[in-house]
Amino acid sequence: MTNTPPVCNYEGSDYQQSFWEQGGHEYEDRAEAIALKRMLPKNGKLMLELGAGAGRNTPRYTGFERIVLLDYSTTQLAQAQERLGRCDKYIYVAADIYRLPFLDRLFDSATMIRSLHHMADAPKALSQIRKVLQPNAILILEFANKLNLKSILRYWLGKQDWNPFTLEPVEFVKLNFDFHPKAIRNWLGELGFSIEKILTVSHFRLGLLKRLFSPKLLAALDGLFQPTGALWQFTPSVFLKAKVKGQSQNIETALNVIDLFKCPECGSGNMQDKKEHLLCPTCQARWAVNDGIFDFRNKMK
Ligand SMILES: C[S@@+](CC[C@H](N)C(=O)[O-])C[C@H]1O[C@@H](n2cnc3c(N)ncnc32)[C@H](O)[C@@H]1O
Repeated sequence: MTNTPPVCNYEGSDYQQSFWEQGGHEYEDRAEAIALKRMLPKNGKLMLELGAGAGRNTPRYTGFERIVLLDYSTTQLAQAQERLGRCDKYIYVAADIYRLPFLDRLFDSATMIRSLHHMADAPKALSQIRKVLQPNAILILEFANKLNLKSILRYWLGKQDWNPFTLEPVEFVKLNFDFHPKAIRNWLGELGFSIEKILTVSHFRLGLLKRLFSPKLLAALDGLFQPTGALWQFTPSVFLKAKVKGQSQNIETALNVIDLFKCPECGSGNMQDKKEHLLCPTCQARWAVNDGIFDFRNKMK
C-alpha cells in the first residue's frame, strides 16, 4: 500500500441534508449552479466527478454521456445512488483521490467542487487527476480562497494570525484548507494545464445579507459579479476552468465499465469482473463491488 495523505472521512455524514437542504445554503448552491453552467462543456463523453458526495451537482452535468462519481465515502455514494438511480449513465466508485483506480488519459472532463479543501497535499491530488485526463480535457475546480475579503480584514485588524497574502495553504480546521489563487494557478501550470476561465463565487456570503434577501436574488447578483474573477479573486469560493494542453483524442464510447479501471495496488489494467468483486490478474488483489458501488479503498482480505 502506498503512503497517502489522510482522508477527511464523510462516512455516515448527513452533510447533504444538514448543510445543503436544511443549513441555509440555497444561495451558495444557486450561485454554484450559475458558475458551473458558464464553465461546463456543452457535451462530452466521460466525466469524472471527484469528491462527488451525495451527487448534489451531478444532475447539472447534462451534456455528458457517462459520469463517474468518485468519493471516499460509500454512504455519500449510496445517497447519490438514491438521488440519481442505478443506470448505465452513472458509475459509482469509492476510492481515494490520491490513489485513483482509472487508466491514464481516460476522461474528457472532470470536476472537483468543494473537495480540494480537504486535500492536505493538493499538488499531489491534482497530479493524480491530471494523469487520468486526456489531452485537451477540461477540469472545473472549485477551491476555498484564503485571500478572501473577510480574512484580509481580520488579518489587518489583528484578529487572525495567518497571513492571507502568502502562497502556502492554511489549515483553519483539521483537514480543511484554504488556498491562495496564485498557488492553485502555479500548480496547474506546472502540471500542463492552461487556465481558461476564473469565476468568483459567493460574493454575498454574509449572514445579514442572507437574512435580508432571497437566495434567488443574491444568486442572480452573484452571477453578475462572477466574471470579475478574471480580474481579481477576493471571494471565499473560486471556480477555475483549466484545460490540459495537447491534442484531443477520441474516447471509445462503447467501453465496458470494467475497462475504465486499473488496479490501485499495482497499476495494471485488464481487471477481471468476478461479479461480487474485481480481480487484478497481475497482483491478485480483489476489490469489492457492493450494491453497484466499486470499492477501491482497501483490497479484500
Ligand atoms: C464537502 S463534500 C462536497 C461534496 C460535493 N462535491 C458537493 O459539493 O456537494 C467533500 C467530499 O469529498 C470527499 N472526499 C474527501 N477526501 C477525499 C479523498 N481523499 N478521496 C475521495 N473523496 C474525498 C468526502 O467524502 C466528501 O463527500
